[in-house]
Amino acid sequence: MPIQTVPTLNLIGPGRLGRSLARLWHDADLVRIGAVAGRNAERCTSARDFIGAGSPVTVGPPPPADLWLIATPDDAIADVAARLAGQRALRPGDIVFHCSGALRSDVLAPLHAIGARTASVHPLKSFATPATAITSFDGTFCACEGEAEALRRIAPLFDAIGARRFGIDAEHKLRYHAAAVLACNHLVALMEAALRCMEGAGVDRDTAWSALQPLVAGTLTNIDRNGTRAALTGPVARGDKRTIRDEIDAATDLDPDLGEAYRALSLVALNLTAPENGLTRDDISGSSKGSESFDR
Ligand SMILES: NC(=O)c1ccc[n+]([C@@H]2O[C@H](COP(=O)([O-])OP(=O)(O)OC[C@H]3O[C@@H](n4cnc5c(N)ncnc54)[C@H](OP(=O)(O)O)[C@@H]3O)[C@@H](O)[C@H]2O)c1
Repeated sequence: MPIQTVPTLNLIGPGRLGRSLARLWHDADLVRIGAVAGRNAERCTSARDFIGAGSPVTVGPPPPADLWLIATPDDAIADVAARLAGQRALRPGDIVFHCSGALRSDVLAPLHAIGARTASVHPLKSFATPATAITSFDGTFCACEGEAEALRRIAPLFDAIGARRFGIDAEHKLRYHAAAVLACNHLVALMEAALRCMEGAGVDRDTAWSALQPLVAGTLTNIDRNGTRAALTGPVARGDKRTIRDEIDAATDLDPDLGEAYRALSLVALNLTAPENGLTRDDISGSSKGSESFDR
């Protein structure tokens, strides 16, 4: 049987996601960590210490490696790829991937042009705190796209740490990532909007969250069990036009952004209702503050 050698991984961008994945793969003896590269020596060293292996690199091309993870912020990935290609840092056949949900793997085109195999794998997980993220990665869904050879080589790394991989069409990555942003980041924004409305009603923030948290948890359970259509209750589901109009105005009085959020989400919710409830887009779009045409 051929002897399986452990591939070397260079990490470019020693932030939250990069150090978390590198640590998981190092702990599992799946890779040998090569360079831990970034712009700031202190942060590269702190990532090396967190991972437990690797050589901090801040200047010049990193040493050769079989696998390259570019885990910089999204906006820097194209520049980093172009710089690495210009330095001829990668060899033909090396695998390079990023973990952005919004960008396609073809942002790595300059490296593909020098013979590297490119892919992207986006974990649907928040890596806000790496120490916590590494204890809860198991079971994380990961959206994958890119060259077959690259995906074939990195799939075992993700599988071994409990990833649940699925394919995503590169052409629709922005829609896919918009879904993740809506469900995760904008859920936070929605909770903030709800808390501000509660505070505007004179309920202190702690009490407001204690009251809202079970409501939110119960709603998620209902969606999980029965789907969004069955889980929708409230003024839009009932077709209570006056309540919707008055609440858009009440939220707008606090902050126009809160009123717009209420209105926009009511329009989305309208898609879940039966036409028999009589509510139309115009009923929602034309609150007294939002349109002169609304008849009060
Ligand atoms: N965090 C998450 O929850 C999460 C989840 C899924 C996917 N992702 C993806 O993972 C990638 C990294 O995100 P992150 O949240 O881990 O970002 P992050 O914590 O901000 O880390 C980015 C790292 O890149 C370094 N960096 C910035 N510009 C650089 C450059 N030009 N060259 C080399 N290093 C550079 C930064 O260090 P210096 O500023 O010190 O240089 C920092 O260590 C992104 O593509 C993101 O979309 C993140």
